[in-house]
Amino acid sequence: MQQQIEFVLNGTPRRLPPGTPPTMTLLDWLRAQGLTGTKEGCAEGDCGACTVVLEEAEGARTPINACLCALGQLHGRALRSIEGLGPQHPLPRILAESDGTQCGFCTPGIVMSAWAHTREGGDPHEALAGNLCRCTGYRPILDALARMEDDGAPPPALPPRASARFGGFHLPATLAEALALRAAHPAAWLLMGGTDLGLRLSEHRERPEEVICLLNVAEMQGIGAGPSGWRIGAAAPYRALLSLCRAEPALAPLAPFFARLGSRQIRGLGTVAGNLGTASPIGDSLPVLIALGAEVELARPGGTRRLPVEAFLTGYRRTALAEDELILAVHLPRPPAGAFLAAEKLSRRHDQDISAVSLAACIEMEGGVVRAARLAFGGMDARARRCLPAEAALVGRPLDDAALRAAGKALDFAPMSDWRGSAAYRLEAARGLLRRLALRHAGLAAEVFA
Ligand SMILES: Cc1cc2nc3c(=O)[nH]c(=O)nc-3n(C[C@H](O)[C@H](O)[C@H](O)COP(=O)(O)OP(=O)(O)OC[C@H]3O[C@@H](n4cnc5c(N)ncnc54)[C@H](O)[C@@H]3O)c2cc1C
Ligand code: FES
Ligand code: FES
Repeated sequence: MQQQIEFVLNGTPRRLPPGTPPTMTLLDWLRAQGLTGTKEGCAEGDCGACTVVLEEAEGARTPINACLCALGQLHGRALRSIEGLGPQHPLPRILAESDGTQCGFCTPGIVMSAWAHTREGGDPHEALAGNLCRCTGYRPILDALARMEDDGAPPPALPPRASARFGGFHLPATLAEALALRAAHPAAWLLMGGTDLGLRLSEHRERPEEVICLLNVAEMQGIGAGPSGWRIGAAAPYRALLSLCRAEPALAPLAPFFARLGSRQIRGLGTVAGNLGTASPIGDSLPVLIALGAEVELARPGGTRRLPVEAFLTGYRRTALAEDELILAVHLPRPPAGAFLAAEKLSRRHDQDISAVSLAACIEMEGGVVRAARLAFGGMDARARRCLPAEAALVGRPLDDAALRAAGKALDFAPMSDWRGSAAYRLEAARGLLRRLALRHAGLAAEVFA
């Protein structure tokens, strides 16, 4: 099944020559083709100078960071770079007329984020969270965004996703194929969105011999709803999860939290499964999954098993995933009716920054006092985990400042110190996040803490 990588670039089908390295980043490849409008600023997903847009079959436009994306991931997809807008396109002109560009280095990335935004809509600040500009200041860029309109370009016709292989880069389309590949290549990278692993390609210039890219596995697609909750397929990007939180009243308190996970570019490809696979103590989705009592579904040849996320995370970047297993889905239970749900995050920057400390809470009230509480923290231990003494300190009390101070005193963490925060800072910050819950519960925090 040895094949050539094919995708639609700027409306034109491209078939890459045999031997094109499938783990070469899209950014390096574009620039080697002379498409140098796409810039390299940081090579780690932060600056957005490399932003290009995935054109989805249904017309959606997903901005992504070309510096984090391996060529093999793009097989069968359609993408547009700044050159694909053409010289007469109004967006760059509007940006220039609004004084939204000076040195111009960030400009192609900002135009591509804007091009996606004109189709996708939503908060313009959110649309720019993944694009840094050192010269202009964001006011004129936001002014320009307000004047821009969807150009109405139709979605591309795309073939159904099929299995493919490019040397050691495998792109299975079914779970059975993926599991067989996992058994045959136990040392292969398991690549999903690549917003963690892509750093090893881009920044560290690693070139793995074998990669199993799971993005196309049919059984891992989409988010499904059932009476007891939601099944989040392992390949469903954060973008889809954020849409779910915005559409589903029971999950609405989580929407502002997930809107701060990375940027639109990161959320376009990054997944909850990847957050679980990395198992970082500061992975932002993990406390939320734990507080809600989510389970991870693992597939192995011959069957599946489900584990609570708490049991799946076994230590610092360690999980219970066995050598022959893959993460198939995450099952998110519907929060108990009337439960108070909150997710809080402290990071050095409001956007596009993983947290130093985070807290997710699911608290059931009865007769004005706490009946049951689940409090899960990130950044406080080797893995995200609950704090049972703090939960116990809340039970039977009103959810007020005094109760949350008591919970803060009961924290049983000895956090690490690193450049994101000292141990002492983390403890204080966690106590502060707990006290924020009282404000949220009283409906007072919405404007203070976005
Ligand atoms: C600029 C930037 C900002 C970021 N901001 C945040 C943030 O705010 N909060 C945050 O939590 N994270 C953040 N991240 C980290 C990253 O986006 C997340 O960890 C994301 O969830 C990774 O998902 P992915 O699909 O891209 O994973 P990948 O990079 O593809 O994989 C990550 C790990 O999971 C494993 N894996 C993936 N899928 C499976 C599967 N199905 N079965 C078994 N193993 C699997 C991989 O083998 C790998 O070890 C940021 C990253 C960047 C570059
Ligand atoms: S080069 Fe900075 S995000 Fe890609
Ligand atoms: S115009 Fe110079 S970085 Fe934005």
